[in-house]
Amino acid sequence: MHLTQKAIAQRIGQIDVVIELLDARLPGSSANPMLAQLTQGKPALKLLNKQDLADPDGTALWLAHYNALPGTRAMALDASMAAPAKALISACHALAPHRGGMAKPMRVLICGIPNVGKSTLINTLAGKRAAKTGDEAGVTKLEQRIALAADFYLYDTPGLLWPRIIVAKSGYNLAASGAVGRNAFDEQEVALELLDWLRLHYPGLLAARFGIEAAASLSDEQLLVAIGRKRGALQTGQQVNLQKAAEIAIYDFRSGVLGRITLETPAEFARWLAAGQTLDAQRQLKKDAIERGRNTRKPAP
Ligand code: G4P
Repeated sequence: MHLTQKAIAQRIGQIDVVIELLDARLPGSSANPMLAQLTQGKPALKLLNKQDLADPDGTALWLAHYNALPGTRAMALDASMAAPAKALISACHALAPHRGGMAKPMRVLICGIPNVGKSTLINTLAGKRAAKTGDEAGVTKLEQRIALAADFYLYDTPGLLWPRIIVAKSGYNLAASGAVGRNAFDEQEVALELLDWLRLHYPGLLAARFGIEAAASLSDEQLLVAIGRKRGALQTGQQVNLQKAAEIAIYDFRSGVLGRITLETPAEFARWLAAGQTLDAQRQLKKDAIERGRNTRKPAP
């Protein structure tokens, strides 16, 4: 088990509410599929962070989706919010109304994938009042306890990505968002997937940024070439440098200069997840069959 998973598993018994910080541009893909298992159905607060970069209509859909789940509340926020603590504390009290006061302080675990903005949020939350007590006895080095109020403790865990991403589209969306290290993906592949989504859902933003009209009628490859040409990403012979064009497309999405974009809806994500799970189950069946074949061929000792 990964050390962070272990830290969560050890702490979870004493936790009242689990906050999962999600990327508002890709809430489904940035949700850790291992978390539900690890957190044993504890009340959950989903924080859709970086809402300033996401499409407000997409964020509204995801908030409604999460708020309809039992034991779950959702809020959207971004780093510009001056005082998110009040809303966050009251959402936790609504989820665990039996906790509060010095005798029964609220204990909240906060988790999220790398780069989702957890440190930024915690710094804002912590402000001057909070005491970081990570080096207290009994508190693991992997975990930091922050007192948001005298009866409200936030346990922070390191950013965690899961080992196997079974939804291909999630892998691309995570890479486009910056959650996955640069060496772990192919920029051109990620850019093509991104452009495929943008040409169908945000052709107006592509027109405004790159002057490409009727993007929906172009293939993702044609779009990448057009972006490279518009932005002067050329190599010898006036050919488009596809790598540079891909980096431009990803950077423009990631930084928000392209506009406010959401890469998935709850319904689409549910479809991708179901397809990913079916594929994964088939893969597992094949693996099991190979394993059985190997075992039956083994000579008896
Ligand atoms: P982490 O702890 O979850 O790994 O994430 P961290 O807070 O370090 O934030 C990752 C990046 O996301 C940072 O940008 C941070 O400024 C940015 N960020 C965090 N919250 C928000 C938000 O609500 N909206 C937007 N637009 N950005 C947000 P960076 O470029 O890596 O660093 P820096 O330029 O801020 O130094």
